[in-house]
Amino acid sequence: MAKSKTVFFCKECGFEASKWMGQCPGCKQWDTFVEEPVIKKSSIHNANGIKTLEPELLSKVTTDEDHRIVTGIGELDRVLGGGIVVGSLVLVGGDPGIGKSTLLLQMCRDLAAKQNKILYISGEESLKQIKMRADRLGTFHGDLLLLSETNLDSIEDTIRKINPEIVIIDSIQTMYKEEIGAAPGSVSQVRETTGTLMHLAKGLGISIFIVGHVTKEGVVAGPRVLEHMVDTVLYFEGDSKASYRILRAVKNRFGSTNEIGVFEMRDKGLIEVNNPSEFMLQGKPEGEPGSVVTASVEGTRPILVEVQALVCQTNFNMPRRTAAGTDYNRVNLLMAVLEKRLGINMASMDAYINVAGGMKISEPSLDLAIVLAILSSYKNRALDSNTIVFGEIGLTGEIRAVNNAEQRVLEASKMGYNVCVLPKVNEENIKNSNIKLIGVKNIRDIINLFIN
Ligand code: TYD
Ligand code: MG
Repeated sequence: MAKSKTVFFCKECGFEASKWMGQCPGCKQWDTFVEEPVIKKSSIHNANGIKTLEPELLSKVTTDEDHRIVTGIGELDRVLGGGIVVGSLVLVGGDPGIGKSTLLLQMCRDLAAKQNKILYISGEESLKQIKMRADRLGTFHGDLLLLSETNLDSIEDTIRKINPEIVIIDSIQTMYKEEIGAAPGSVSQVRETTGTLMHLAKGLGISIFIVGHVTKEGVVAGPRVLEHMVDTVLYFEGDSKASYRILRAVKNRFGSTNEIGVFEMRDKGLIEVNNPSEFMLQGKPEGEPGSVVTASVEGTRPILVEVQALVCQTNFNMPRRTAAGTDYNRVNLLMAVLEKRLGINMASMDAYINVAGGMKISEPSLDLAIVLAILSSYKNRALDSNTIVFGEIGLTGEIRAVNNAEQRVLEASKMGYNVCVLPKVNEENIKNSNIKLIGVKNIRDIINLFIN
């Protein structure tokens, strides 16, 4: 008997190879290749025969720029770029249990209240389970169409018949097409089913949301395999121990990818967090050494966060350093700058840095806060608790300009801070501010900032 043909796919990025490889040449991950049967090309696209195509003039193409469905969940609308674009395919990725189904069901609830026709298809939960979740989320002032199904051919048929405005597929890893020999969740199934959904969305003008789990083990393909196929990619992330969740757009054909939405998971579903700064600063110590507040800009939104440092004498030959919520190498670099430029003996010091609240921040404007927190803990002297700092630090100890400085200052004053330490260059460009600005040029200028 002839051996059936197989190919190997990277389950992280979808890289295709004819043989198994230890490391994926595409995404450089190890041990991600899985074996899958080759799909007959004819089954992939239902070839309609070849016909001559009629190209359209660019100037003749009309856009329905305003044709968006506003969900009513402000944080979600902003991340989508102002609502759901009709006929778009949106991927919502995230770790299992982070709240993807909850978010989408809440979206459906609000849209159903506005008489939109919605079809919610779950391959993971029974109708009873969906109903139980819905009951938990509160009253539905409208109705949804539910389907518990994993066969995509039947689903396609149903969608064509019902013609809803919005469809939710929860999750893509449970969906399968009969003609593809691979198991649900395999790279080929996930790709083919998404391809079919793409045709449906574009052809019928239906907005489709696909849920994709981020998985670390097993043979289930991750959502990254689909990123290039869909219009918008949203990731729902958060610390499993913290209650807040961040919705981030990593790709958006209809809007900016700079936006984030902040939610909090409560017992009755997700609540929008309209003031993330207040949320992040909950429980901040007052007047303690090693605690510094900074303004970070996520997208177009300034968020105040607290940076903490604990510096103490090391008991080992090699000092221990950790950085939670920020870049470890950056912390090492900043400590080297402190050592060289201010002559502080950091080599004998352990240092633990933490961005409180569980946020992950990688922007360089955090530098000044990290350095001040380290210094503050090292000297055991606190910074005035009404002070906020931001600025990038260069290798010679110079403090460099950061973007959106005015917005950061504004957020600080909105949150009741009255002193802002910022790069000199930025200070000169801010015309009027109702809080005191202290422009600094070099890290030598910051050692006098401590109060006690
Ligand atoms: P879920 O939306 O099922 O996650 P996903 O679809 O991303 O896998 O979220 C499940 C988690 O959220 C679960 O651990 C329970 C929690 N949860 C709440 O805390 N409050 C709620 O009101 C709901 C519906 C879920
Ligand atoms: Mg789910």
